[in-house]
Amino acid sequence: MKKIITFVLIFIFAITYIAVPAGYTGGVSVKMYAPDGRDIMVSIEDVEAYKSVGWYSEQVTTLYSMDMREIVVSMDEKDEYLKVGWYEEPFFVMYAPDGREITVEGNLVEQYVSVGWYTEPVVYMYSRDGRSLVVLKRELEAYKNVGWYDNIDIISKIMISPDGEETRVFSDYYTYYYNLGFRFKGRENLDVTKPMVALTFDDGPGNHTMRIVSCLLAYNCVATFFCVGQNVDAMRQTVRSARDFGMEIGNHSYSHPDLATLNPDGIKWQMDACSNSIYNAIGEYPALCRPPYGSIGNNVLSNVGMPSILWAIDTLDWKTRNAEKTVESILSSVKDGDIILMHDLYKETADAVEIVVPKLLEAGFQLVTVSELAQFRNIDLVSGMKYHRIKSN
Ligand code: NI
Repeated sequence: MKKIITFVLIFIFAITYIAVPAGYTGGVSVKMYAPDGRDIMVSIEDVEAYKSVGWYSEQVTTLYSMDMREIVVSMDEKDEYLKVGWYEEPFFVMYAPDGREITVEGNLVEQYVSVGWYTEPVVYMYSRDGRSLVVLKRELEAYKNVGWYDNIDIISKIMISPDGEETRVFSDYYTYYYNLGFRFKGRENLDVTKPMVALTFDDGPGNHTMRIVSCLLAYNCVATFFCVGQNVDAMRQTVRSARDFGMEIGNHSYSHPDLATLNPDGIKWQMDACSNSIYNAIGEYPALCRPPYGSIGNNVLSNVGMPSILWAIDTLDWKTRNAEKTVESILSSVKDGDIILMHDLYKETADAVEIVVPKLLEAGFQLVTVSELAQFRNIDLVSGMKYHRIKSN
């Protein structure tokens, strides 16, 4: 019995002092490693728990691919991975103001920043007096609210000097450059110091639309067509041709209801559906609208999502169906900056256009689109507002 007790005591002594290092009371410990280079000693019972939260029992490192994946590999495997397209530095997408994007390794980010790249999307913005700056895309609206533009073509045009040199001129300087002998490219006959009016045609496209466009072209003039979306869907090529010949295409709702009888969602649907039809036809969304019937009550203006273009002269062409009366209604009252309402659905209106265009030119008026009228007069057309005429002070 005594022998057995002695043996047991020796055995207990043995497992206590052989398996556990002297002076350590927390059990066996091992070194573990994190991908970022840290290491710690943990007790052997805790190894699995540490592994489950991203520690490893050998030295490891994180490698990165250009498509933004990352993996953790052992130091022994690292070189093999570096040979097949993995990198030691993470990658970042960088952005240029002109819309380009590139993916660069992390250690090159600073270098790219120093030559004009950004770590988040940016855009150029411009002011009417020709300043420009680079703005974070998420701040775009805030800048728009204080008079900056992301579309340079709205507030500047290419002008041609008396020597034939092309230069971009910002709208604050149109008159100044004009008086120095510069002319607008493609619109060399346009004189910003003389009267301008905008002919507008509603409810099309229709069978007389191209005849009206051809007449305007013959006199080197342009006009604005406020199209009904369902008619655009039916006559896409007509709308496309009109646009290609320099005409402006505006939104006149999808199916021509009185928008004041609709709720805000109904108004938005009518406007969006028409804008989409126009986009499908010409590849651009319209910037302007004319609410059907000129009906702007019941918060129509605030729900159409763009400037509402009404009119200074209502020719009543749809009612009289008489070319002479239509012509007379224009010539008896036309003034600089007027917006003139007609409809391109009627033969008599096309007849009237062929008469009135040369007469307006003889009287010294220049025929421009509504957007041009605003641009050449350096006036902003604002969403939620309505316009009957567009004239500098
Ligand atoms: Ni209409």
